[in-house]
Amino acid sequence: MSSAAIDMILDAFARHGDRHYGERVSQTAHALQCAELAAREGAGDAMVAASLLHDYGHLLEVDRQADPDNPSTDEMHEMLAADALAAVFGPEVVQPIALHVAAKQYLCATEPGYLEGLSAASAHSLALQGGPFDATQVRQFEAMPFSAEAVRLRRYDDLGKVEGGETTRLSDYRDLLLGLASRQGR
Ligand SMILES: [Fe+2]
Repeated sequence: MSSAAIDMILDAFARHGDRHYGERVSQTAHALQCAELAAREGAGDAMVAASLLHDYGHLLEVDRQADPDNPSTDEMHEMLAADALAAVFGPEVVQPIALHVAAKQYLCATEPGYLEGLSAASAHSLALQGGPFDATQVRQFEAMPFSAEAVRLRRYDDLGKVEGGETTRLSDYRDLLLGLASRQGR
């Protein structure tokens, strides 16, 4: 089960990972760079996987939008990914992904200059996603499990957009993903 599930995830990158979504780098390049940043910081396997797969929802959207009975919207890509990945991975992988858009809204509210430093595409999607959090939302976010990990993931997300910046390949992460999935008995 695990290896088929991991192959399905990696196949989505093979089929749709060359898309850019308004950024300078492709989805696959972005995913690899984010995973490399997490690994370089010694963030642990779960964070490496979360970083690699955080925008998996964008790849799923491509297939969903081809199916008129299954519409999805860009601003919910994080939930699309989290729902799909929850069948394979534990919350230490899934929750930072589910919260990585909220982490952007949180950082926009709490970190001076953060909003101004966003890429044009991230700044544009912020408006669709509800804008910066208010004080109540900030407190609610901080109380959520894995919110700190989501903020950490967000940092990699913002940095992993360098043209030609990746040094690994998707297949390099297959064993790591398999190991995390089998920890869940999947
Ligand atoms: Fe991203």
